[in-house]
Amino acid sequence: MERELALEFIRVTEAAAIAAAPFMGRGDKDGADLAAVEAMRKAFDHVDIDGTVVIGEGEIDNAPMLYIGEKVGCGKEPKVDIAVDPIEGTTIVSKGLPNAIAVLAAGPGGTFLHAPDMYMDKLAVGPGARGVIDISKPIEENIIKVADALGKRVQDMTVAILDKPRHAERIERIRRLGCRINIFPDGDVAMAIATANEEPEIDLLTGIGGAPEGVIAAAALKCLDGDFQGILKPRNDEEIARAKEMGILDINKILTIDDLVKGDDIFFAATGITGGNLLNAVKIKNNIARTHSLVMRGKTGTIRYITAVHRLDKKQM
Ligand code: FBP
Repeated sequence: MERELALEFIRVTEAAAIAAAPFMGRGDKDGADLAAVEAMRKAFDHVDIDGTVVIGEGEIDNAPMLYIGEKVGCGKEPKVDIAVDPIEGTTIVSKGLPNAIAVLAAGPGGTFLHAPDMYMDKLAVGPGARGVIDISKPIEENIIKVADALGKRVQDMTVAILDKPRHAERIERIRRLGCRINIFPDGDVAMAIATANEEPEIDLLTGIGGAPEGVIAAAALKCLDGDFQGILKPRNDEEIARAKEMGILDINKILTIDDLVKGDDIFFAATGITGGNLLNAVKIKNNIARTHSLVMRGKTGTIRYITAVHRLDKKQM
């Protein structure tokens, strides 16, 4: 994919973030999601790609826009698979909490695992600990190995985990090991990426979250030379059947970063909606919106942070 696409993809996440921003703290996560989805969908119409959504808002029957299989872009070459999350953290936006982002990843056809809408257990680390994680091993073992790779004492490690009842036992085990823990309410994509910050406040992300979000986080960590592993966690036979339909025959397989995202000809773009570990919030004053975005290219590892000032009265939204 041509490098010029980087800026095009940023326009798409910017549009979703600007549309979602007015909903911050308003308790209306569906309204926020709809606004972001519509804005993202429209913005794709101006991008010179022949795109297909492979990770999106759901099945065609449940999602009017950005559904799996939907064609996006102007229809010109190159053929591109798209993974989107117009709001990663709808509850975060509705409560005005940190770390909601508008996000997309793009790659040639077949790049992304077609992850079913179910849970995935995840382990994410930055470049300093690439190659040392093994999700099939106990969390304690992984933390000790990562600490060793990072040259840190175990008690100086910060482990991030979603604040969900399903993690109570794991949180206790991490506490017993003596680590510092960041127990966050929602938004595990931003927290997974935060492990690869230059001076990371998070050393490792563990825990069960959405599988589609897992693929998106893996795309970002691939651009950053980090590492990611996942295992699907279906809750019933229907979900197992759904995974099989989507081509995942061995439900217990450890999904490595290369299983989730093939090759490195990828882009990852994100714009902050609420501020957080990764990006600043959208700021709106009268007709001016300021956005803070990030775009990364897997092939070259270039990371661009883009601050943009948008004249809303001149925009065709
Ligand atoms: P939404 O944007 O769909 O609200 O997802 C937010 C999120 O926290 C993800 O970051 C995470 O992977 C998933 O939800 C966890 O799911 P659940 O809220 O069901 O525990």
